[in-house]
Amino acid sequence: MIPNVDNDSLVYLNGERVRLRDAKVSVLDRGFIFGDGVYDVVPAYDGKPLRMDAHLARLERSMAAIRISCALQRPDWERIVLDLIQGSSLGDCMVYIQVTRGVAKRDHGFPSGVEPTIFCMVSPFKRPDAALRENGLSAIGVTDERWLRCDIKSVSLLGNVLARQMAIDAGVDDVIQFRDSHLTEGSAANIWVVRNGMLLAPPRDSLILEGIRYGLMDELAEACGIPFEARPISEAEVASADELMLTSATKEVLPITRYNGQPVADGKPGPVYARLRSAYDAVIAAL
Ligand code: PDD
Repeated sequence: MIPNVDNDSLVYLNGERVRLRDAKVSVLDRGFIFGDGVYDVVPAYDGKPLRMDAHLARLERSMAAIRISCALQRPDWERIVLDLIQGSSLGDCMVYIQVTRGVAKRDHGFPSGVEPTIFCMVSPFKRPDAALRENGLSAIGVTDERWLRCDIKSVSLLGNVLARQMAIDAGVDDVIQFRDSHLTEGSAANIWVVRNGMLLAPPRDSLILEGIRYGLMDELAEACGIPFEARPISEAEVASADELMLTSATKEVLPITRYNGQPVADGKPGPVYARLRSAYDAVIAAL
């Protein structure tokens, strides 16, 4: 029995629906041996997925980037995700999808004639509460020690895991990572900077994972009349920002109000956050 999960929940494993407690994968699975796989996380509200198409498109891009091909087509993925959500009777939940290169003798090169391992599970998702929205998060700046293909949503997450643990050890909520003194992202979230009324984010390149909320924030900023620019952002610009925010499927959009032990501006969530937050809530309400 695994603690803190619903061991009786139904998961999808290689075409079968089984209880989580019964879902088993070989120790020679390349996801286990090499971290050779990709994943995605689709959030759903009251049983309705948010931007499922974009999440599945990103999953397909990640698979293509590491040259995993699989028989499932887009409608098959949609069916799996919707079946898991509907079968779970959970309201707000998230579907985790993982595809690895499959099971083979341990050898670094790609094996031939091996089917990918496909695993999907649904878990409850507790939306960020009023206290978090009102007080915001704390973060520290750290060096980005990850590889150069952060655009692939790889299950090899050691760099992200170590970064998150640095935050935990420092008693803060997350890290803000920098490569060559320029902003990349959080441990599992994109970071946003506001300066002089302008919303800024790092360019969509291979040094960050382009969150599905990256595109969504871009659209919401436009709808709210907030100017947005994607460009390299220096460490100094983060440290002197008017506002900082992070976005992810599970954190939605949240303000970062303390950075490196100092308040961000007056230490309260800012006006640009407030507008984007209400616009994000409106998207969820309209699902
Ligand atoms: N992570 N950057 C990284 C490194 C991430 O891991 C994530 C999301 C994001 C934001 O992407 P999106 O807006 O599509 O959630 C950015 C998920 C939630 C996770 O690993 O659980």
